[in-house]
Amino acid sequence: MADEYKPPALPAPFNNTRPAPELLTQGAEAHLYKTVSLDPSIPAALKVRPSKPYRHPILDRRLTRQRIIQEARCLSKLVREGVSVPAVLALDWEGQGGDEAGWGGAWLMMEWINGPVVRVVLEQWEAWMKKNASSLDAAQLEQENSRVRDLLRRIGKTLGGLHKAGVVHGDLTTSNLMLRLPTEGTESETSPTGVSMQGEVVLIDFGLASQSAQDEDRAVDLYVLERAIGSTHPRSEPFMEELVHGYRESHRGAVSTLKRLEDVRMRGRKRSMIG
Ligand SMILES: Nc1ncnc2c1ncn2[C@@H]1O[C@H](COP(=O)(O)OP(=O)(O)O)[C@@H](O)[C@H]1O
Ligand SMILES: [Mg+2]
Repeated sequence: MADEYKPPALPAPFNNTRPAPELLTQGAEAHLYKTVSLDPSIPAALKVRPSKPYRHPILDRRLTRQRIIQEARCLSKLVREGVSVPAVLALDWEGQGGDEAGWGGAWLMMEWINGPVVRVVLEQWEAWMKKNASSLDAAQLEQENSRVRDLLRRIGKTLGGLHKAGVVHGDLTTSNLMLRLPTEGTESETSPTGVSMQGEVVLIDFGLASQSAQDEDRAVDLYVLERAIGSTHPRSEPFMEELVHGYRESHRGAVSTLKRLEDVRMRGRKRSMIG
């Protein structure tokens, strides 16, 4: 049997909090934990960037610190601008200690978003449709497709709000979009698929984000997401135009960004023809 995975030691004070933070995901750059903030009933997301032992310690410290501060800055700016992102609760760019002496990582604690990532929602929906779509009548089929169109439109609108606030995300995939589950008491939608698409679209993961109001940067943001949806959610891809619609309606600058998007797509096609 393979050795059980042991996550790296947490920085202080999280090596010592009860209940212990629960490791949710481990990316190349960051580990994501669920923990609590101030009160055990308030959930929080803790993003830890461990130091990288193979990098020179001074460079490592500088990069880790820059990335986490950058992410926190973007988030707090976006909260102020009314864009739907998790609020920043706490931050330490010189995470010290834990059990490991000289731990040079950094961490960011933010509001917990209660709900699924869009990748999971679309994957579940597509899996159900693949198996069962033939059992739906025309009206039901139309209803299902229109739920996806509506979701993509809401995503486009949220991205428009992000760009309008002067930030480009830099890493848009359906794993970096979440749906905040509606609060109890809201009537839930009924669908034979059992997959809800309700909830506010929330943007996460600003580790590669930057401040920019350039059409090129904005268009590349959209293009990257378009490609990601095309490759991971083939059944949803035909509805991509809805995302563009939602985006177009979100702010006045959208028109020139969308024009640029056509150039970016063209360059992408040329590149894939060449090689
Ligand atoms: N604020 C949050 N609330 C709830 N879950 C979150 C939150 N932030 C991140 N997650 C979960 O953790 C995963 C990884 O977080 P992310 O910021 O995207 O880090 P990475 O750089 O590793 O992709 C997300 O895909 C999501 O499932
Ligand atoms: Mg991510």
